Amino acid sequence: MKIKVAADPKSVLEGSLEIANYFGYLSGVHHVQVDVERDANLGNCVGGILVDINGEKYKVRDKKEAAMLFVQGVILRKKVKDLAVKKVLPPEESRITPEVLIVKRNFGKYRDIDGYIFLGGYEALKKALKMKPEEIVEEVKNSGLRGRGGAGFPTGLKWESALKEKASEKFVVCNADEGEPGTFKDRMIIEEDPHALIEGIAISAYTVGANKGYIYIRGEYSDVAENLKRAMEEAYDRGFLGEDILGSGFDFELVLRFGGGSYIAGEETALLESIEGRAARSRFKPPYPTQKGLFGKPTVVNNVETLVKVPWIILNGAEEYRKYGTESSPGTKLFSICGKANKKVVVELPLGVTLREIVYAYGEGIYGEGELAMVQTGGKAGTFVSKEKLDVKLDFDAIKEGVSLGSGAITLIDDKSRFLDIALNVIEFFEHESCGKCVPCREGTFLVRKIISKMVEEGKVDCDALQEIERIVLIMKDSSLCGLGQSVHNPIISLIRMLERGEVA
Ligand SMILES: Cc1cc2nc3c(=O)[nH]c(=O)nc-3n(C[C@H](O)[C@H](O)[C@H](O)COP(=O)(O)O)c2cc1C
Ligand code: SF4
Repeated sequence: MKIKVAADPKSVLEGSLEIANYFGYLSGVHHVQVDVERDANLGNCVGGILVDINGEKYKVRDKKEAAMLFVQGVILRKKVKDLAVKKVLPPEESRITPEVLIVKRNFGKYRDIDGYIFLGGYEALKKALKMKPEEIVEEVKNSGLRGRGGAGFPTGLKWESALKEKASEKFVVCNADEGEPGTFKDRMIIEEDPHALIEGIAISAYTVGANKGYIYIRGEYSDVAENLKRAMEEAYDRGFLGEDILGSGFDFELVLRFGGGSYIAGEETALLESIEGRAARSRFKPPYPTQKGLFGKPTVVNNVETLVKVPWIILNGAEEYRKYGTESSPGTKLFSICGKANKKVVVELPLGVTLREIVYAYGEGIYGEGELAMVQTGGKAGTFVSKEKLDVKLDFDAIKEGVSLGSGAITLIDDKSRFLDIALNVIEFFEHESCGKCVPCREGTFLVRKIISKMVEEGKVDCDALQEIERIVLIMKDSSLCGLGQSVHNPIISLIRMLERGEVA
């Protein structure tokens, strides 16, 4: 019999390793042969530690409950109803889209570079170094890979534009800032498969002709950064980074930089400013980073998830990648499910999966007494989606139906949440994170926050004030300098529409 105990960072902090050890102790005491496994991909749940016994999911809060579960669930082989996780299946769905493991292919499977090499690691780099950069660009273009940092820009086109630039020096930058609230997928990649990331970055550098690259990781990720640092040292030792990589004549130096902890530092031009030693404030575009980026040189900035897909595409081919996802949004996407979800987890699903499946089959519905009221997709800058719209297919085109994919954050919100509280929470975040460089965003976030605060103080919604808010966020959309100010209308207007339809109080 196998017992799996959640071992993701949240569960570990809540004592899951002690619970796993305790199950080991109990199996010895009761002389029962049990295989206890710590599983970083099991997911987690609110108010306890997730435990899986032969496919049945349970939640235990302490050793007392663990002992009860062991006796009833393992020794007596009964279903332990009191500890079972409430499982809510999607009402009208008979078929559930299974996970496709491209990014998660190595999760939980290796500890060091030898393990990664055993799994076929660095074979894609070896193959790429024998290809012409133009051939790699063509393969990535054919795969239809689009950036997973939020904007969905075609990766092959970005690389082609940097490759074409004539310059004495070029750079590649891996954006590991992951500041979008509710998003924790890049963190999992760095924790679980740092070598695939290093391999993807090296391939991108070889393709565009860059001899130096940076990984810009958010300051709060100092714990997982240790893992990355160790992997980088291993890659240098084995000749996958450094001079004359694998005898190809290609030199590539990779450096780790820590972010200062602001949301705007994830915006690519603000990030470049930060690496150059200035405050993270966005630059005017054009010129785009591929033309004039880091230290004025052509630079490719890509998200962690985007880069980790590249070795797989090089080895398996564009056609294989296109077997998943939709025509305009091929491949898979990592979704981080959070908020009031029963199960907070990172899942990898083909694009085009319905929001309903993510919410119910993978997030297992709402935790606690409340009912699902809405979902915010794509992080704080994303849209609020009513429960009536859960059958929307999530891909980069879903925005045409008012649903943003963004970073892939899926935040479940229950019917106890109130319009004014949610609206204030959203705008306070943007006011705080605005870098202040341009007037529409700096003043707009301040004004909208003041209007909403006033309604909160008065305890009622004012329809004229809502109109004024809409006017301001639409001006911000058209006139702000960067994506931060340009996207505030997404959450605000979608939330106002829900209020108008009576879907939130
Ligand atoms: C305010 C703001 C914050 C952002 N934060 C991130 C981030 O944390 N990580 C990320 O990869 N992209 C972030 N982006 C998107 C980046 O600007 C850029 O589009 C992305 O890194 C490009 O990589 P991709 O093409 O692989 O997606 C942010 C954009 C904005 C406007
Ligand atoms: S939109 Fe906001 S975050 Fe972006 S440059 Fe303007 S003030 Fe700064």
